[in-house]
Parts: sequence; C-alpha cells; structure tokens
Amino acid sequence: MKITKICCIGAGYVGGPTMAVIAKKNPNIQVTIVDINQERIDAWNTEDLSKLPIYEPGLAEIVGETRNKNLFFSTDINKAIDESEMIFISVNTPTKTYGKGKGMAADLKYVELCARNIADVAKTDKIVVEKSTLPVRTAEAIKSILHNTGNNVKFSILSNPEFLAEGTAIKDLLAPDRVLIGGESKDAIEALANIYGSWVPQEQILRTNVWSSELSKLTANAFLAQRISSINAISELCEHTEANVNEVARAIGMDSRIGPKFLNASIGFGGSCFQKDILNLVYIARSYGLNEVADYWEQVIVLNDHQKRRFSDKLISTLYNTVSGKKIALLGWAFKKDTNDTRESAAIYVTDHLLSEQANIAVYDPKVPSSKVYDDLNYLQTRTEEENNSLVETFDNPYDAINDAHAIAIMTEWDEFKTYDWTKIFDIMKKPAFIFDGRNILNKEEMSQIGFEYSSIGK
Ligand code: NAD
Ligand code: UGA
Repeated sequence: MKITKICCIGAGYVGGPTMAVIAKKNPNIQVTIVDINQERIDAWNTEDLSKLPIYEPGLAEIVGETRNKNLFFSTDINKAIDESEMIFISVNTPTKTYGKGKGMAADLKYVELCARNIADVAKTDKIVVEKSTLPVRTAEAIKSILHNTGNNVKFSILSNPEFLAEGTAIKDLLAPDRVLIGGESKDAIEALANIYGSWVPQEQILRTNVWSSELSKLTANAFLAQRISSINAISELCEHTEANVNEVARAIGMDSRIGPKFLNASIGFGGSCFQKDILNLVYIARSYGLNEVADYWEQVIVLNDHQKRRFSDKLISTLYNTVSGKKIALLGWAFKKDTNDTRESAAIYVTDHLLSEQANIAVYDPKVPSSKVYDDLNYLQTRTEEENNSLVETFDNPYDAINDAHAIAIMTEWDEFKTYDWTKIFDIMKKPAFIFDGRNILNKEEMSQIGFEYSSIGK
C-alpha cells in the first residue's frame, strides 16, 4: 500500500519531532500534524523558529526545512483525517486523576476521543497507528470503536511506540536503536516499515504482534527507570560507607552484561513518562491478580520518591535544621537538560517541600519560562497562588538568582552550570555558602577549594 498522506493527532513532544523527521526523510509524503490546542498549533506555525512550542536541539532546523513544503500544522482535524491514508495517534495518556484506577491507570479518554473522531470522519480505508504509550490490549478497544461504525471503511491498527528521549529527540529519531511495529495486517505493517525504511535499516525495524509491541514500551521504560532507582539506592549506601557512587557505577558499567548507560545517580528521575508508565504497569499487573509482579515494579517509584525527599531533607538538616526565611537558589527546573519540559521534574517536589519549611526560593533555568514554574507549583495545590508568588521568584540570570542566597541546589544537569564563575558566585552568597549538587556535575575538590560547603549525591 503506497502512503502519500499522513496525519498525526497530537502536536506534542512526540508528535512534533517524530513527524518532522518523517517529513524530512520522506519528501514525497505530505505530513499534517493536528491538535485541538490552537495556541500550540500557532506556535508551531510561528515565523520565528526560536519560538516553537518545544525546545529540542536540531528540531527548529528540520521544521524550517520542511514546514509548508510537506509538513503542515493545523487545527482542522477532520480534514486531515479525511485526506490521510495513515493516521498516528500521539495524544497524551496521563495517569488518571479520577474514578477507577485513580493515581495508577492511564487515562485513555484522549485516545478514545481520537478513535471516535476517526470513526466519524473516515470515508476511505485507513491505517491507524498507536504512537502514544498505551496499556497492553488498548488496540482491542480502538479496534472495537473503529470496527463498529457500519460505514464499510476498513481500519488496520498498528502499535508503533516511540522510544525517543527528550533533549536528544532528533538524534534518537534519526538513528534509533530500533523501530517497533506491532500489528496483524502484513500490508499495513510493511506500509509503515517502508516509511521508516527511508532512513532506518530494515533489520532494525522489528515486527511483532500488537500486544508484544504495546507491552514492550511499558517494559522498556520500567527497565530504564529501574536502573536509575537501583543506582540511586546504592548512592544512599555510598553516603554511609565512603564509597563513591560514580566509581561504583563505572566499575559495574564496564561489565558488558550491565553496560555503562543510565547509571547516573541523581536527585531522582522526572519526566512525563517513567512514573506514569510504571504506575500503569503496576495497575495492569494488579488487575490480573499478579501482586508480586506489581509490588516489585512499584518499588522503583517508592525509591524515586525517597531519593527526592532525602535530597531536600539533607538540605534542611545541613542548613542547621531550618530554611525558614532563607534564600535557596535552584539552578534548573526542567526534568533534564536540553528540554523546556518540566513534567514531574524533581525540582517541583523539592521546592514544594522547602516551601513548606518557609524557604524563599529563587529559580533560574535557561529554557523554562517563569510562568511554567508557577503553574507547576500551583498545580500541586499545596498552598495558594498568592503564597507561591510571594515565596518564589524566577530570574533570567543565574547570578541574580544566586545573589545573597544561603544555598544553591542544582536540579538539572544543564552544561552551562559547569562553566559559571564559581569564585564570583561564592563572593555573592551568604557564608557559609552551601552547594547541594543533585546532578553530580561540579568538582568537589574545586568547590571546596573556593570555600563552598559542597555536597553531592552518593559521595
Ligand atoms: P503532549 O502532552 O506533549 O502532547 C499531546 C498533544 O495531544 C497535546 O498538544 C494535546 O492538545 C493533544 N491532544 C489531546 N487530545 C487530543 C484530541 N482529541 N485531538 C487532538 N489533539 C489532542 O504529550 P507527549 O509528551 O507528546 O506524549 C504523547 C504520548 O507519547 C504519550 O502517550 C506519551 O506517554 C508518549 N511518549 C512520550 C515521550 C516523551 O518523551 N514525551 C516519549 C515516548 C512516548
Ligand atoms: C524516557 C526514555 O529514555 C525514552 O526512551 C522514552 O521514550 C521516554 O522516556 C518516554 O517514553 O517518554 P525521557 O523521560 O525523555 O525519556 O528522558 P530520560 O533521558 O530517560 O530521563 C528521564 C529522567 O531520568 C530524567 O529526569 C533524567 O535526569 C533521569 N536520569 C536519566 C537519571 O537520573 N539518571 C540517568 O542515568 C539517566
């Protein structure tokens, strides 16, 4: 089946970069990304490429090359569905905040709305691709909605989970470790494999059944997050035994069966997916009565929450057991470097804890706008917006954020933090000047020599 027009529902962190790369590598295919969020679509269409709604290294260049040639952004969802032979569903699948499965299960209402929208509009046969991360067996529900329209349109459903990481999305998309396609219809699978085949070697395109594909995505994220919780657990033991977590990580990572990646001890993982996907996995396991399986994976989250909490606890105890009225400068608000995404960022939870202890928080992040910091804190509903406004200040310049601070807490591993004039920073801080390096990016000896009271994770 030859595909000439593709539509992607959801212009977010996955839909935007993924479709931009598909458009770049398939100049003969017209790719339209649609979304219900007018503001987001306007931002994707903005002339000034530095103002795209998502910051990802290399993304603006690709959008600049392809936009309005074979890549389009629109809110006319029905038109795009009607015209396309292949439709990707790339909408958000957050943890449910209500009803059955609240706080655990994935909320599939947006995915279902897309399926119903496609069912209503389609007049010709379509391949529907699940790009969102979905619980195993979701395709069953999508199939049921699409196959009961009574309009004689044939739908093939594929699962094609996305493995990109934010901050390296373009690099990951251009050279993926693998592409995974799950489905029943061989024609549909090959139609999608052909699109990726424009730049991904065929042997790296895996074909599986739909359920393996859906479950592989949750499993991949669970394994990745488990590595971080494992090294973070060891980091706490290091702090009690004079072992150094970096040295331990290096020593175990050189074992080729373990491998060196994803062993950076940290303040705890953030991001929109690890926690939500593991909670979802735990929920699914419980729903099958597999309590030991559920308990096993749940520990990854328990440990992660502990890691965030113990960071702020240590900060408070080191500052003589009180941060009330003290200025704490937070460097970084994004959940990792090279992204403006703050979803589930550890910075939010550390700040919330410090605010409960009446600290004054000064935030600097190179890419996160001030409004996002307040939105993230207000969303928690721990205190009023007025209180958040009065206790938290954001800055466009790190030195202003740090001026007169009692302590610095490094929340994100932005490269620029390493290049700051740390002697000047020491001079403008209150003494003793404390640094809590939640990302282990600074050199302990150098910092101590300047005069800082420096502490990091797992050392
Ligand atoms: P996002 O929130 O950035 O984007 C989702 C978009 O979908 C939003 O702009 C929203 O307005 C739109 N949307 C929701 N319902 C809609 C509807 N009915 N019609 C049209 N548009 C609609 O989310 P994201 O980070 O891109 O994640 C999307 C999916 O991909 C999730 O399932 C996530 O788990 C998965 N995923 C995310 C990442 C990542 O790094 N962010 C990586 C791999 C997989
Ligand atoms: C993660 C996965 O890496 C992607 O493969 C997956 O597609 C994606 O989730 C998803 O499904 O959403 P992402 O969350 O964007 O990608 O970024 P990661 O690089 O995985 O980092 C996640 C969090 O773990 C960050 O807070 C990061 O700082 C932290 N981390 C990562 C560590 O603390 N230590 C590490 O060694 C690695």
